[in-house]
Amino acid sequence: MDIFVRSGAIQEDPADAIIISVFENSRPLGGAQAVDAALDGALSELIEGGDFSGKEGQVAILYPRGAIPARRVLVTGLGKTEELAIDTIRRAVGAAATRARDLGARQVTAEVLDVRSREIGLSRVGQAMVEGSSLALYEYPAERQEAQGDKEVESLTLIPPDDAAEALAAVESGARTGERIAAGVDLARTLVNHPSNIATPTLLGETAQAIAKDLGLNCQVHDREWAEEQGMGAFLAVAQGAGQPPRFIVLEYCPPAMQDVGNGDDVVDALVLVGKAITFDSGGISLKPGENMYLMKGDMGGGGAVLGAMKAIGAIKPPVRVIGLVPATDNMPDGNAYKPGDVVRAMNGKTIEIRSTDAEGRMILADALCYAAQFDPAAVVDVATLTGACVVALGKGVAAGCFSTDDALRDRLMAACKPTAERLWPMPLFEEYREALKSDVADMVHSAGRHGGVGTSAVFLKEFTDYPWGHLDIAGMAFNPLKASNSYTPKGATGYGVRLLVEFVLSW
Ligand code: BES
Ligand code: MN
Ligand code: ZN
Repeated sequence: MDIFVRSGAIQEDPADAIIISVFENSRPLGGAQAVDAALDGALSELIEGGDFSGKEGQVAILYPRGAIPARRVLVTGLGKTEELAIDTIRRAVGAAATRARDLGARQVTAEVLDVRSREIGLSRVGQAMVEGSSLALYEYPAERQEAQGDKEVESLTLIPPDDAAEALAAVESGARTGERIAAGVDLARTLVNHPSNIATPTLLGETAQAIAKDLGLNCQVHDREWAEEQGMGAFLAVAQGAGQPPRFIVLEYCPPAMQDVGNGDDVVDALVLVGKAITFDSGGISLKPGENMYLMKGDMGGGGAVLGAMKAIGAIKPPVRVIGLVPATDNMPDGNAYKPGDVVRAMNGKTIEIRSTDAEGRMILADALCYAAQFDPAAVVDVATLTGACVVALGKGVAAGCFSTDDALRDRLMAACKPTAERLWPMPLFEEYREALKSDVADMVHSAGRHGGVGTSAVFLKEFTDYPWGHLDIAGMAFNPLKASNSYTPKGATGYGVRLLVEFVLSW
């Protein structure tokens, strides 16, 4: 979908559909008022007759019958005026864009809501409108013989609330940011939706190379031998039972200012994003039950989010250095597979006694977290579909768990939830969890019993960090639990984490 921004009057636009918005129990304002006047009060009649209340999620259609050039008017509900948030805009535009697509509209124009009086800048509104519509219109390119539906919105044009150059520039810059972020989310969704025979570690590596080539990032995709040289015994333990060759992906964005000074001359902070990419989690020798095992094709949701975020960051080009690390491997049972009771040594020299081979995510993250230290990071944030226990604690599709060794870093991560509406909830790193990881034969076991499973996994990871560290357990967030589309989140993979990580980086 092409995104355009131009000044003008929405009631004069010749699109297949124009989108205007109305608050609950309110008369039409701004562009909606202008359209209402041009339609001789048709919108007021719709509202006053009780056919449209402006509740969030509601979309009404008006046919102008030549009174204005557009073929249809879509009126989208914004809900209660006092409850308006950036995400309301995303959802309202998402609902209208989906309807426009289903009606076969190809050229769509939308009015940018004037909410400057509420301290929401026009650039944020433009960004939210592009995110809401692009994300709502996402479709997984499924492997079917039957052709995908040919209904497709080709262009979205945004019209700022006034003709001032500043308004146009603000909407334009927000729209471009939204476009880049949405492309990152789409990438993460597609990688998670892909079956594991397509989204192999090799494909993830090629995807990282392609992002790097497109956007001028540095990228190295390392293999098993390289990981051996690095002493990544924890990552390799998981990979040793996999038929698919593992990959350790390093994708680096350096801001233009830093490239001028020359690499190695650290004038800006480095942030490291680490994503768990278990391309298929069978559980290994500690095999998972068969029911729903297919969903473990999405156990690379953290790695997908990091690749998606790096794609967006590489395009937006913020003034901070960002390094994405993605350890990628299948977790499979095999004659060579790692086994319960095995003891392996991580890159930092610590030894780990394996209990359940199904606790593989923390193994590959352990070595990636060790590797992150060499960048002298201001902060390292890992993202992982790590534990079922986190889903038990916080629910499916409700919130990801947020752990941190640094209060300021936790505050920054929590702050990134607000504009993105990708919810996090703070979780504790209690000392007692470390007790549960005591081993008779190694420095630690990597998983303890049933109780506090989300906390013990996080405290295990902490053993491999020596910098401000944040850990996001997104196990409940990678797939849409509704199994149907919901405002701007389609069924299947959500791409959770991309928008949050980008917001975190942009607000650094
Ligand atoms: N990938 C799973 C966690 C998961 C569960 C993600 C549900 C998404 C939805 C992880 O590797 C795992 O198997 N964790 C085990 C840990 C246990 C063996 C200590 C779990 O949560 O049961
Ligand atoms: Mn597992
Ligand atoms: Zn897993």
